[in-house]
Amino acid sequence: MKTTIYEITQLNEEALSHIEEAAGILKKGGLVAFPTETVYGLGANALDEVAVSKIYHAKGRPGDNPLIVHIADVASLDRLTTQKEPIIEKLAERFWPGPLTLVLQKKPAVPAMTTGGLNTVAVRIPDHPVALELIRRAGCPVAAPSANLSGKPSPTRGKHVAEDMTGRIPMILSAGDCSVGIESTVVDLSGDEPTILRPGILTAAELAEAIGTPVSLDPSLLLKKAWNAETDGTGGAPAPRSPGMKYTHYAPRAEMLIFSGKQDRIAEEIKIRKEQQEALGKKVGVILFEENEFRRAAGDLFARLREMDEEQVDLILAGALSEENAIGFAVMNRMLKSAGYHVITV
Ligand code: TXA
Ligand code: MG
Repeated sequence: MKTTIYEITQLNEEALSHIEEAAGILKKGGLVAFPTETVYGLGANALDEVAVSKIYHAKGRPGDNPLIVHIADVASLDRLTTQKEPIIEKLAERFWPGPLTLVLQKKPAVPAMTTGGLNTVAVRIPDHPVALELIRRAGCPVAAPSANLSGKPSPTRGKHVAEDMTGRIPMILSAGDCSVGIESTVVDLSGDEPTILRPGILTAAELAEAIGTPVSLDPSLLLKKAWNAETDGTGGAPAPRSPGMKYTHYAPRAEMLIFSGKQDRIAEEIKIRKEQQEALGKKVGVILFEENEFRRAAGDLFARLREMDEEQVDLILAGALSEENAIGFAVMNRMLKSAGYHVITV
């Protein structure tokens, strides 16, 4: 398939004509990759199950992994959910457009293909002018997972999308770097109490403050090992309620080890191991973020992982971030998966 890639640097007339063309593709049941503030998304009309099925195919993604539905205004929630509560209004008012996804009871119009067979639907309004313009012009809610091949780090730069999706989809809207860099915080509002299913840049404390009630973390987020679909039910570990959390994710080709402890000890240990491995002829990559630069780490993690693949390193040595910081916790959630939960405490 021929893939048209449009580079958009500002929302001028030329850009709008490209977005209009992209919206036309969505209307006809095709796929378009587009930028959001978190990561690039791979979009299809969320209410058209044939269109949505193409997403799974293009990504090579398991069909029971539900998608996030993107809308451009709060009024569009009515097309997707029966839930109407002050808490939804409060969160929408405060954080949309933004990196927050709400899981709500779905309306029958939302196909099972979009929700992975669940009776809930995940929804957000992305904070990116290109995404908003595209959704408005398409005139439909847009289902979009991250625009990477399944298992690869989410794309946070235009070139990442081109690498993964060229030849697989008709159009990519490319618009530079994603400002947040990790995927949205997913909060389940379909049950008794608001629960974070996937941590992100918006923290439990910020959400709780906005709604005036506590927001809990899904217990599976606190497990420091891989949740294994094969052994579930025998090992006693709680299965994640967000189905996407159970798959191998963000995995670079090289083996990856995370070093955890005091920052200066981490740096020392990584230096020693690097020299040892290089003496054995191994190519070693290092991922070490500045201490307490949590937002920068979020912005760069996926790009750094992809660079490691490009540089064809044999081994990645990474420094852990403090999980006491909620954004550090969210970045570590991805880093731990990338490393298959291989952590060395120093
Ligand atoms: O920042 C983001 O959220 C990006 C951009 C493109 O918006 N999208 C994204 O989508 O990360 P995706 O499909 O890669 O991740 C969706 C996550 C998965 O962990 C999935 O299991 C969870 O949201 N999810 C979706 N619908 C759900 C539902 N009804 N109930 C529970 N979890 C759901
Ligand atoms: Mg993803």
